[in-house]
Amino acid sequence: MATLKLTNVKKIYDNNVVAVHNFNLDIKDKEFIVFVGPSGCGKSTTLRMIAGLEEISEGTIEIDDEIVNDLQPKDRDIAMVFQNYALYPHLTVYENMAFPLRLKKNPKVSEDEIFNRVINAADILGITDYLMRKPKNLSGGQRQRVSIGRAMVRDSKVFLMDEPLSNLDAKLRNQMRAEIIELRHKIDSTFIYVTHDQTEAMTLGDRIVIMKDGYIQQVDTPQNVFDKPNNLFVAGFIGSPQMNFFDAKLSKEGEDYYVEVGEVKLLIDDKKRDILKEKDINEKDIILGIRPDHLKVSFEDNENTIKGKIIVNEMMGSEMHLHINVNNKQDIIVIVPTISLTKSQKEALQAGKEIDLEFDSKLIHLFDSETEENIIYKKEC
Ligand SMILES: Nc1ncnc2c1ncn2[C@@H]1O[C@H](COP(=O)(O)OP(=O)(O)OP(=O)(O)O)[C@@H](O)[C@H]1O
Ligand SMILES: [Mg+2]
Repeated sequence: MATLKLTNVKKIYDNNVVAVHNFNLDIKDKEFIVFVGPSGCGKSTTLRMIAGLEEISEGTIEIDDEIVNDLQPKDRDIAMVFQNYALYPHLTVYENMAFPLRLKKNPKVSEDEIFNRVINAADILGITDYLMRKPKNLSGGQRQRVSIGRAMVRDSKVFLMDEPLSNLDAKLRNQMRAEIIELRHKIDSTFIYVTHDQTEAMTLGDRIVIMKDGYIQQVDTPQNVFDKPNNLFVAGFIGSPQMNFFDAKLSKEGEDYYVEVGEVKLLIDDKKRDILKEKDINEKDIILGIRPDHLKVSFEDNENTIKGKIIVNEMMGSEMHLHINVNNKQDIIVIVPTISLTKSQKEALQAGKEIDLEFDSKLIHLFDSETEENIIYKKEC
């Protein structure tokens, strides 16, 4: 069993760079947590502080309710896969994988046991044929799998992985992603996995921690970060192609709320209306967000639409990705499933055509123009 608790953890490097600000997180036993965010946001630094490889400037880290701030990395019972593999060049793949087991003293691990664990891990990772090679004679992807294997052979309470798939090609990455999901069920550990790939974050994590500039932006389940993004950054970061944004105005008439975006005036649905009322929000400038597959092309004569011009139509097979210029100033993306389109509708969706777009107020997201926070669903983190 292993729970982790980070309280007000901060990291200031010697050059006064504050890499991590006030990081608070409770991780449950056997939970799979993913840290995601753009390059330089503090993911590796946080992971290295948990492993004990980087000193903590402020705050506490607890493993199973014990403060480990001053505990040596080797005494934390943590296995880590590094962003840059960190394999021993003079040892074979087999010896690299056996290395952490040979270090174990009490109790010592027998050669038979080492052999079984290495062979088993190599088999799962598909690197059995390379066990006698040295790392320099492997491709980047193979080296990365060796470094996963080296962490796997240990029976650690906590498993940390820093971008373990970043050097693999797309096909291998998909395959390894599935294997990590399997691995997670075979290894009785708590996982923290770092990536800047939002697909990996969504598919692997029980909960995702989204970071930017050393600050946590949101901690939530994949479904919640997608449906209820805390702010504009999370909304734009999660989901591909990314959410479309429009400058808009929130207004109130009697008991009803409206969003005005261009020529369109949208009545806000009951659920959002009740939250706005409860928060006592009146008129304000907002940013309206809507995902590319939630905007609808209108083929009928409909007044309440936004007009746009198709710049590019990317045909993906089961759907079209339309790049649309709205009001000559803004480019957005709309995804249209092709299965229900008639021939004439398909023709109406070619580059150069003018089209009308409808909004469904249940599917829109509302962000404050000034703070960029989600007006409806902002949660403290
Ligand atoms: N040893 C160091 N000394 C000084 N600054 C550092 C050091 N290591 C990292 N930083 C800085 O701390 C910040 C966070 O770095 P970190 O490596 O944690 O980012 P990351 O989220 O892992 O990024 P990436 O996705 O590129 O790996 C960056 O601004 C980085 O330049
Ligand atoms: Mg990193």
